[in-house]
Amino acid sequence: MSRLIVVSNRVNVPRGRENDGAQGGLAVALASALKRSGGIWFGWSGKSAPSFSGAVDYRRHGGVATATVDLDERDVEEYYNGYANRTLWPVLHYRIDLADFDREFGKRYEAVNRKMAQTLAPMIDPGDLVWIHDYHFLPMAADLRAEGVANRIGFFLHTPWPPHRLMVALPFHDRLVRTMLAYDLIGFQADEWRESFLHYCERELGGKVDGEWLTVGDRTLRCATFPIGIDATGFAELATGPEARASFTRTRDNVTGRIIVGVDRLDYSKGLIERFNGYRKLLEREEWHSKVSLLQIAPPSRGEVPAYAEIRDQLDKLSGRINGEHARVDWVPIRYVNKGYDRTELAGIFRAAHVGLVTSLRDGMNLVAKEYVAAQDPDDPGVLLLSRFTGAAAQMEEGALIINPHSQIDIAQKLDQALRMGWEERKERWQALFSALNAYDVHHWATEFLDRLRGEAD
Ligand code: G6P
Repeated sequence: MSRLIVVSNRVNVPRGRENDGAQGGLAVALASALKRSGGIWFGWSGKSAPSFSGAVDYRRHGGVATATVDLDERDVEEYYNGYANRTLWPVLHYRIDLADFDREFGKRYEAVNRKMAQTLAPMIDPGDLVWIHDYHFLPMAADLRAEGVANRIGFFLHTPWPPHRLMVALPFHDRLVRTMLAYDLIGFQADEWRESFLHYCERELGGKVDGEWLTVGDRTLRCATFPIGIDATGFAELATGPEARASFTRTRDNVTGRIIVGVDRLDYSKGLIERFNGYRKLLEREEWHSKVSLLQIAPPSRGEVPAYAEIRDQLDKLSGRINGEHARVDWVPIRYVNKGYDRTELAGIFRAAHVGLVTSLRDGMNLVAKEYVAAQDPDDPGVLLLSRFTGAAAQMEEGALIINPHSQIDIAQKLDQALRMGWEERKERWQALFSALNAYDVHHWATEFLDRLRGEAD
């Protein structure tokens, strides 16, 4: 079996209790793929140094070899906070109104990709498969090719890809997308994002599409959909262990009435304002007063990016206002918690909640939806409310209640429906969701991608 070289901005091997649940999805997925094939997980250490030395910190965590480098302070500011999170992230999530098109950011992004590729190239042996992840490293295959790397290189985009008309708002978009043609395989979470990418290549680069194959000039590569899964059995087991049981009991004992849970990185793409307003609409029905609580866990993220500081402020105000309007001495309608919880604790919280609420305005997949389902008690499962704008909705529409997060009425009505749903319907919906989660779990996802990258699944 060929070795695997995984590249992602964050190198985050999950170690149970030490990891915050909200960032778990990608970490769990990659670590389990690496454990099976051996190899290296390469990326940023998360630390900054006064200057970039290229010194590699090699470690082993739970059976996975990692290799990380520090970036310099300007890299962190202009590549990570800048181009990745102030330019690309909003564009990829259809928010060109929030994007900062600073040319310095773009230059630094290219430079960081180049130096990361130069650092990685000597670690790659002939026959290794190289699998690069996410929007931080879109151009990395082209940089590796420039270093003489002839291996098969695949890329997986964890975020959406926006429609052509939005993508062209990005200055030098064609220069960026052309570098992506150096991959052998590009994977997307959902057909919608793949179609937008292919459409862009047809319109802007004169590409020709034949099924999964894209040809631009003399380059032909494959573009396919691989919806990412979770370790469904593992997460279900976690939810029944003693620590998760304690967290279940704590949640049920301390939160009033029926529990609606949301767990998200504090990000404007998650539709948290819309979620709070939809819940506020539900509270217009007085019968729910003191009978329901929204538990919103939102660990702050990317706090140095202005749009994140703003959304945080807005949410503080809105949750305060809703609680001010409705709270009673013995009931707080929204429990809004700005801290991350480890995966075990989260599993118990998910199991304790009668409704899982996902309102993303745009989301590549959304693994919280899947973890919520996996954590449920098969004999008394809760109900998932899932935004139609997530990659997950394409897979989960049968069992979840699909919502339009822009409609407060839709959120309120479906919350009401979910909170009243009878045992049989809950069980039937959950069974459909859980069996699909098992069939299309994270192992299936990694195997499908890597087989296709090797060229074995033609
Ligand atoms: C999303 C991205 C990941 C990223 C994660 C956390 O899920 O797709 O690539 O690692 O958010 O964001 P952060 O900026 O803290 O790495």
